[in-house]
Amino acid sequence: MACIKALLEQGAQALLASSCSPELDASVLLAHVLERESVYLRTWPEREVSLTCQREFEQFIGRRAAGQPVAYLLGYKDFWDYRFNVDEHTLIPRPETELLIELVLQRLSDQDALNILDLGTGSGAIAITLAKQCSLWNVWATDISAKALSKARENAQLLDAGNVMFSLGAWYEALSPEVVSALSLQDRTDVSLASESHPEKPVSFDAIVANPPYIAADDEHLSAQVASSEPRQALISAHQGFADLESIIAGASGYLVPGGWLMLEHGFQQGPGVRDLFEQYGFDAVETCQDLAGHDRCSLGRRSDTVAME
Ligand SMILES: C[S@@+](CC[C@H](N)C(=O)[O-])C[C@H]1O[C@@H](n2cnc3c(N)ncnc32)[C@H](O)[C@@H]1O
Repeated sequence: MACIKALLEQGAQALLASSCSPELDASVLLAHVLERESVYLRTWPEREVSLTCQREFEQFIGRRAAGQPVAYLLGYKDFWDYRFNVDEHTLIPRPETELLIELVLQRLSDQDALNILDLGTGSGAIAITLAKQCSLWNVWATDISAKALSKARENAQLLDAGNVMFSLGAWYEALSPEVVSALSLQDRTDVSLASESHPEKPVSFDAIVANPPYIAADDEHLSAQVASSEPRQALISAHQGFADLESIIAGASGYLVPGGWLMLEHGFQQGPGVRDLFEQYGFDAVETCQDLAGHDRCSLGRRSDTVAME
């Protein structure tokens, strides 16, 4: 039998060529196999590991060396204060996306009973975090991927976020009256999106948030490992990465209350282009905010009072 220290060294060595954090990956994977915190590995380096656990660890190292992300191997990723289950159908939530959460909370957390829409929810990281932070809000989460939406529902259940509703479809089509009525027939626990006064028109939102696909297919910054393991549909967008950002910005005013916020994550070189789109579609108070690395990461604007609802 091998000891913890020896396994960590072997694992890190095997990951040298494939990972930019081989020691960390080996440590996270061994802690997972042993069902312990990482501090246990540092405290008991000479402790022997059973053959069963050793084999399991070696299999994980093999899959990691072949390019599988650590989060998919573990089956989860921590985001904000919560643990989200992930699989190959969901984007792995990124720390940069926590900026979007901060921006929403800074502007709106002092208000109760808001309607918030998260377009392209993936694992549900944004929608569920907002719903947990503000339990009086109603948060709608949509995605074009049925498998991603099913993972998001699972996460909402595990995290006991009863104030999140789910709807399948492409951007605002997920809110169409047909989808909404089918949804409320199929799943009576979901709240209907049709407003009482205008049954044909979905409810208006106080804020729309999204982290849409925004990477150009030929972007040199997209690592081969990310491109081959995470869903292409979650990453790549046409028109140099702007196609989905523009679809969301173009449709947002029809679904926002006057003065309602649209807040979007985007690529670090897309700030000026996204601000132009916000202005072109009549948004006020447009600005771009930077992530912890100092990169442009999110842009936001408010629906002008004068934009007519569709
Ligand atoms: C970058 S991922 C973001 C996932 C999650 N919101 C997060 O931040 O971790 C983009 C998500 O948008 C979804 N998506 C892509 N195209 C879409 C479309 N046309 N309509 C709705 N959702 C779409 C993808 O399936 C994916 O879950």
